[in-house]
Amino acid sequence: MLDKIKQLIAEVTSFDTDSAEIAEAFRVRLFGKKGEITSLFEQFKEVLPQDKKAFGQELNVLKTLTINKLKELQEKHKKTFKVDPALDLTLPGDPAPLGSRHPVSLVRNEIVDIFNRLGFTISTGPEIEDDWHVFSALNFPPEHPARDMQDTFFIQSNPDILLRTHTSSVQVRVMEKQKPPIRTISPGRVFRNEAISARSHCIFHQVEGLYIDKNVSFADLKQTLLFFSKEMFGKDTQIRLRPSFFPFTEPSAEMDVSCTLCGGKGCNMCKYTGWLEILGCGMVDPNVLDNVGINSQDYTGFAFGMGIERIALLKFGIKDIRLLFENDVRFLRQFTNAF
Ligand code: PHE
Repeated sequence: MLDKIKQLIAEVTSFDTDSAEIAEAFRVRLFGKKGEITSLFEQFKEVLPQDKKAFGQELNVLKTLTINKLKELQEKHKKTFKVDPALDLTLPGDPAPLGSRHPVSLVRNEIVDIFNRLGFTISTGPEIEDDWHVFSALNFPPEHPARDMQDTFFIQSNPDILLRTHTSSVQVRVMEKQKPPIRTISPGRVFRNEAISARSHCIFHQVEGLYIDKNVSFADLKQTLLFFSKEMFGKDTQIRLRPSFFPFTEPSAEMDVSCTLCGGKGCNMCKYTGWLEILGCGMVDPNVLDNVGINSQDYTGFAFGMGIERIALLKFGIKDIRLLFENDVRFLRQFTNAF
């Protein structure tokens, strides 16, 4: 057995090959399951105790030698690995294509972020709603013409079930569940039975806000909206409130911001008025508070609501709202670095 080991040591020492296959066959011959070195280790168990030391030493020399030899051969084959001459490894790699967020998501995230900084939480609710949450609780009496302000998609066969026309419905749900102080915004998708044109769509997105506490005043509303407008459109932005009507707010107003394109001088975008309308707002009507079990003697609140698409059109100077729904990648790609 000792002779066999010595013979293998000599053989391994002088072994060399350029072929990876021969090297592999050599490895299997020695270290494979039935390999010569493997079986020598098996035979080693039967060696007489007094001979174990001498055998063991030689066997280990053989083992280390073979391992080193195999490593050496492996390195050598790596180096001689042939590179296809047609392949230019110095060329820069193909860039991984980067997706971009949809402009509506970008603007929504920005709005949500600004109101988060003012301590508003985010609330969401169902898109399929009932009459109570979309209209009745919000002080729209049955048959009242104000319901026509928001052309509604009803779920056939049940006039009580409809697609929400605004996310004020989410705020009714919040007020029913939560005691004031309440400070929340509800971003979400809304539906109105309107003809699709460059300026309006039957599906769009809103962010509505609600703040209810003791002594909330119209001044708080104005300051909140001014802060929002400056954050959203730049610090020189001015706001203007025009009296308006909503069943759920009294007094109500529509808010304009100074034109984001001409800064108020007058241009095509603002139709030479210098102002752009961006949202509706007002003090929550006491009837609404009473409808949801909040005492209107103790609490007051303000609410506002805006269309995300409209803000995206103004912010990015997009002329047609339909572009936001077509998902043409040539259009969407332009927003990769928008914020
Ligand atoms: N809910 C209104 C709409 O969809 C917007 C609004 C919200 C107006 C809150 C006033 C106060 O048009």
